[in-house]
Amino acid sequence: MVLYVTKKGSKYYPSKAMKEQAWVNNPNIYKEADKNPVKFWSNLAKEGINWDKLWGEKNTYVEKLPYFWWFKGGKLNFSVNALDRHLGNPNKIALKWIPENPKEKPTELTYSELHKKVCQFANVLKSFGVKKGDAVSIYLPLIPEAAIAMLACTRIGAIHSVVFSAFAPDALKTRIQDCEAKVLITADGYFRRGELVDLLTKAKKALKGTKIKKVIVANRIKKKKYSGKFVSFDKVIEEQSPFCEPEMMNSEDPMFILYTSGTTGKPKGVIHDTGGYAVQSYWTTKWVFDLHPEETMWCTADIGWITGHTYAVYGPLLNGATTLIYEGTPDYPNMGRWWKIIDDNKVNVFYTAPTAIRMFIKEGDKWVKKHKMPSLKVLGTVGEPIDEKAWKWYFSKIGKNRCPIIDTWWQTETGGTIINVLPGIGPFVPTIAGKSFPGTRHLIVDHKGNKKNQGFLAQKSPFTPGMLHGVWKNHKKYADTYWKAFKKYYDTSDGAIMKGNLIKITGRTDDVMKVSGHRLSTAELENAINKYKKVNESAVVPIPDKIRGQVPVAFVVLKKTKNDKGMEGKIKKHVDNTLGPTARPHKVYFVNDLPKTRSGKIMRRILKNLLANEEPKGLMTLVNPGCVDEIKEIIKA
Ligand code: WT7
Repeated sequence: MVLYVTKKGSKYYPSKAMKEQAWVNNPNIYKEADKNPVKFWSNLAKEGINWDKLWGEKNTYVEKLPYFWWFKGGKLNFSVNALDRHLGNPNKIALKWIPENPKEKPTELTYSELHKKVCQFANVLKSFGVKKGDAVSIYLPLIPEAAIAMLACTRIGAIHSVVFSAFAPDALKTRIQDCEAKVLITADGYFRRGELVDLLTKAKKALKGTKIKKVIVANRIKKKKYSGKFVSFDKVIEEQSPFCEPEMMNSEDPMFILYTSGTTGKPKGVIHDTGGYAVQSYWTTKWVFDLHPEETMWCTADIGWITGHTYAVYGPLLNGATTLIYEGTPDYPNMGRWWKIIDDNKVNVFYTAPTAIRMFIKEGDKWVKKHKMPSLKVLGTVGEPIDEKAWKWYFSKIGKNRCPIIDTWWQTETGGTIINVLPGIGPFVPTIAGKSFPGTRHLIVDHKGNKKNQGFLAQKSPFTPGMLHGVWKNHKKYADTYWKAFKKYYDTSDGAIMKGNLIKITGRTDDVMKVSGHRLSTAELENAINKYKKVNESAVVPIPDKIRGQVPVAFVVLKKTKNDKGMEGKIKKHVDNTLGPTARPHKVYFVNDLPKTRSGKIMRRILKNLLANEEPKGLMTLVNPGCVDEIKEIIKA
């Protein structure tokens, strides 16, 4: 077994073996890139991506805040970069799909097979009238059709909007309505913990009030004939020709939208452009995970999240490597499933979230002991700050003290990881994310934008190529959310501390929580709860949770009903049905009043204090300080 790390003091560094095979091992790369980041990215763009037409050197980076453009005027097709250019090696496995049931056979698609299916499906979309610039909604579980559908959109320049399959019909509906999709791609179901989930029924509930004209149903469960708006994926795809001329896109054309939670109730459609996203996805996958074309990468994230877009589908394919996706839960049929998948499929790069690691720690070492996992080279983590205990367990039990842990900081908005440590350079320090990726500049500031050692994490110009390009049909939201606080810096809404020359992320500084690594805003959950007919108003705050990181707790004022018997269950069910079970409150407290300022603002901070058994400050600013003692009693009871 190869040893990829060595210990020096309390820090880990790459071993000789790691340095020798790593794409990058010279720390000077940071300084070199920082001399002229635009030039640096321009070179990377030409080296890493096939362009149909290059941009004029002056247009490599054009900035007119709050917007900026990369490789302006350059032309490319994303799917050509992910597929066609690897066809010299047609039998190489591009995608390996592991169904949840261990008795069911995995699917392997070579680059040539995936290319064919993507072309055919692109032709299907065209036959249904989808044109360049149209939005297409995708509501699929982790099955090969998800990657095929996404890539097919990029083939014809349609903008995909993937919606997490565990989201409820209402959440799907608002996302379809916002991007005005006319085609929806979903599935007849999928398996979770051995149970069949009926996705199609959920999808059908979302259609009313949308412009959806066609629903393409992937045949995960069975081949079936559909009628009316509904067509079977397998049937429509086999009728199409195996080649589809790629649409040449401008670098700055939108490639996809991904909805994410912010501080307000309505999720925002984060827009990612084609060229910049391609360049950043290619290079961050290659350097941060040190992925080589002959290797297999397994990113456990669902395609409903940005991590699933960039590191389960696009990044590994752009690099001509093999990506593995798994349909089910980590504990099915037992807690050893993930480790067995790694061993059986010789996974080299494994990328997951701290919340999953904490879940495994709870189960003890029995399951991980059975698996040596000698193929592993790099371990990644993402989604929330990783605590020391989880880091050490991941390092020793999964990596067997051999593999670096790459703590990757990023957001839906940044498109790819831009604070991390490169495997060939190090150091790998528990709980510390690391440095700005070469050619990227971050700084820590106070609320006035002055540089500090601890405070708010911000990004400096030139903003990275994969960064969001606005919020779908909402300029104001884009400008206010990201550019209002520091004007010339991008506001990440995360807190950070400098530890020497490394950045440690401390967590969100806004009303966004991370529940099992998923992003959820207090306002979004309050909105959903307030829609329940018996609720007058509510306030949601996060509390720490050993496994999930944070969980939401709701304080609810009911309309008239004094008797709240069974009401907690009803509210939880209502949240399951409107947002999805990820957002379900851990606990609901029924109170008579919520602490408010004179202007009517709910003071969530006070509720947080009460839950943590801390003495709340600032009660003088409340119009109704009396409610605080009452809430204290209710929490105690
Ligand atoms: C928020 C973004 C982009 C990946 C999945 C989450 C937190 C993400 C880290 C990390 C500490 C992290 C931040 C960020 N976060 N990675 N390595 N260390 N915090 O994407 O749902 O858009 O959430 O996740 O708070 O702002 P997202």
